[in-house]
Amino acid sequence: MDQLKPDRDMRGNGADGSALRAVLADTAVLLAKTQSCHWNAQGPAFYAIHELTEAQYQELFTALDVLGERLRAVGEAAPDGLGEMLEHASLAPGLGEAAIPAAVAALAADHARLAARAREGAEEMERAGDAGSHDVLIARVLAHEKAAWLLRSHLGPRMEAGG
Ligand SMILES: [Fe+2]
Repeated sequence: MDQLKPDRDMRGNGADGSALRAVLADTAVLLAKTQSCHWNAQGPAFYAIHELTEAQYQELFTALDVLGERLRAVGEAAPDGLGEMLEHASLAPGLGEAAIPAAVAALAADHARLAARAREGAEEMERAGDAGSHDVLIARVLAHEKAAWLLRSHLGPRMEAGG
């Protein structure tokens, strides 16, 4: 018996961990980009963005651990370092922006994409009968939708409507 594999009951009919792994990898990328904004952002709203991004990278760091531990709990390997994270990530690896409106808009767009990926993953887990992974991913949908709203609110009504 493979001791890495938990009871079949726990993970339903055997989702392969790809949804959790994809969300974990993009969370690592977004953590690094959020810290880039925290350090490099420039503009009149610097201090507000500096503070907001600190709260957000801390939340992403906590979420990384939850996602990695859930992968292990269902018998899947977690990515080994940044190289493997990047292999599984779909977000662009760098922010590429320092001016606050563009940097903040880029982070908001990444949160929206990650919310959509987590929602899609949660649906996959529901179909697979893995209620625990479903709930972990739904928690990420809520967190990314809130983060996207907080960031978009700094952009003003015109950009918010389009973002
Ligand atoms: Fe800091």
